[in-house]
Amino acid sequence: MREHAPLHRQELPDGRVFYSVTRYEDACRVLGDHRKFTSEGGSLLNQLGHGDAAAGKMLAATDPPRHGELRRPLNSLFTGRALEATEDRIRKAVRLLLATAFDSTEWDVAQWARTLPMAVAGLVLDIPERHWADVVTWTGMAAAPEEPEFMVGDGATTLAIAHCQLIEYLAEQYVTRRATAGSDVLRRLMTMRDGELSQEEVVVNCYSLLLGANATTPHTVAGTVLALLEHPDQWRAVQGDPNLVPLLVEEGLRWTSPASSFLRHARGDVRLSGGTVPDGAAVAVWVGSANRDEWSFADPNRFDIRRQPNRHIAFGAGPHYCLGASLARTTLRIFFDELVHGVDDLALAGEPRRLASNFIAGLTHLPVTICRAEERV
Ligand code: HEM
Repeated sequence: MREHAPLHRQELPDGRVFYSVTRYEDACRVLGDHRKFTSEGGSLLNQLGHGDAAAGKMLAATDPPRHGELRRPLNSLFTGRALEATEDRIRKAVRLLLATAFDSTEWDVAQWARTLPMAVAGLVLDIPERHWADVVTWTGMAAAPEEPEFMVGDGATTLAIAHCQLIEYLAEQYVTRRATAGSDVLRRLMTMRDGELSQEEVVVNCYSLLLGANATTPHTVAGTVLALLEHPDQWRAVQGDPNLVPLLVEEGLRWTSPASSFLRHARGDVRLSGGTVPDGAAVAVWVGSANRDEWSFADPNRFDIRRQPNRHIAFGAGPHYCLGASLARTTLRIFFDELVHGVDDLALAGEPRRLASNFIAGLTHLPVTICRAEERV
């Protein structure tokens, strides 16, 4: 499609229509220009034709200038600098979780990684550990309702249950936290003065934070481990030089692109490679394709942990650039640091299983056997 149909019109059996954008330059253009491409008609493909009830309230579904008012007070809580203060706690939490994995020789990396964001975002948002399992289940259902392992009845029912459970949970948290003291991100969001948010705005943005964290990071963890298993020279390179971990993380993000598609709606006719998007049309940006665009990345289908520059758009581009990017990078860096230092060797122990989703590209299972570093002879 990148070569032959860079702007591809797709009509679904029920008559709904969307255009697919697959080239890097076009993807950046669509994501970067909120005047020509609004997020307020829904930013996910499964909202096609339905719109988004959270438009104008939730970051991802709000255009500037209101978007800036919602985002500004949050930005400072998620910068690399703000996170430095929590880095030691994050490392401890990751080590604790890894200790259970390293206790046995068989390890399902994909299953294990599902809890990892809770140990990190859960820490920043102060989600009590006893709630992690439920939150992981609900966010999993919300992000990939068509996945047989998560499905309850059909996809639509699964999505409805997940939304209800998460919104109800966060509404309870809202009431409890406003009545008690603390300094976590949720509380600061709930009590901030600048731009004063309503309860509904706080709840939908907390929902977005939890979904953003839980639906994506685990798949970069598992997908990058799989890439290392498939490219043993790259595993040996990073083991030999752990300073390569930050570059490995960037290549892992490009390679896995877990948030694989985002939706926008055109305002006015807009010309892109391969044709014109008509006014009001839905446009799906395929991030994974943009990140393997041969016009923007040399030898894009090579997993190369020394790739520089690596201007991937796994975290998006423009005003909606991922709020959690620093947190995700910190999590991934710490995880691969610990892996490289703690594990001598890894081997595939069964068939990896892919997640059924047109939004999240990821794995549900990645069984491996591990040989721990101290077992070396
Ligand atoms: C590997 C991990 C992650 C990836 C690949 C990823 C990817 C993305 C992408 C592509 C967007 C842009 C969406 C759009 O343009 O419509 C986005 C937005 C967002 N992400 Fe992430 N994300 C990750 C981790 C996180 C984490 C850890 C958090 C929260 C702690 C988070 C919270 C958000 C939020 C709130 C937005 C909406 C920002 C806005 O609209 O201004 N993400 N993410």
